[in-house]
Amino acid sequence: MNDSLHVAIIMDGNGRWARERGLPRTAGHHAGVKSLREVVEVAVQRQIHTLTLYAFSSDNWQRPKSEVTALMRILAAQLPAQTARCIRQNIRLSIIGRRDRLPETVLQAILYAEARTEKGTGLHLRLALDYSARDALVRAAQYIRSNGNGDFTHALTHAYNATCPVPDVDLLIRTGGEQRLSDFLLWECAYAEFYFTPEYWPDFGGAQLDVALAAFRQRQRRFGAVPV
Ligand code: IPE
Ligand code: IPE
Ligand code: MG
Repeated sequence: MNDSLHVAIIMDGNGRWARERGLPRTAGHHAGVKSLREVVEVAVQRQIHTLTLYAFSSDNWQRPKSEVTALMRILAAQLPAQTARCIRQNIRLSIIGRRDRLPETVLQAILYAEARTEKGTGLHLRLALDYSARDALVRAAQYIRSNGNGDFTHALTHAYNATCPVPDVDLLIRTGGEQRLSDFLLWECAYAEFYFTPEYWPDFGGAQLDVALAAFRQRQRRFGAVPV
């Protein structure tokens, strides 16, 4: 569909999805894995270039320990499981964010997933873990100061452990009804189109992604210029 389309998703609403069913919040996180699989599947079919998914923010460490542990367990189990699928589908999987505070199991799963999928030439799937855009911006500035390197995109790429620079975000989707960025890709969303939907993440899937893409196609992007 698009040579360089970058879609980013704030996968929100797992806790409320679970609460409405009388389930623990962690059940919502487990249910969200299916949505993730479906969305990736459709992203591949629609030939999206880059898909960045917000899985765990640096502020999410403030949650109850039991919830954080459950999320880390899901990640440690799902990363290797999804790696096989990524290889089959020619997906390159990379993880952005800080790595120094993650449990060893998750860190090992990241290194395994990245190494096994690095030759993928199809969808570039990026998972944001222990990610804070502000933190990345500060680190990028520090990197430039200490290296004397003025290329900010390069510094930012380095700051959140990305493997390579990616195009700016074209479409930012947030599920769960909130209309905010919650410290996600502040720099890269400079001209992003925003799409907010009340559906909770476990209720979001390929069909809903198609609806968001259709809405995006109706937008007129001007980038500050006057349309001709
Ligand atoms: C998003 O769902 C998943 C993570 C932040 C890890 P939430 O857990 O934030 O769900 P709500 O917003 O409380 O419903
Ligand atoms: C943003 O959702 C982080 C992820 C979806 C991973 P939050 O639920 O943490 O954001 P706030 O607290 O509503 O801003
Ligand atoms: Mg939330």
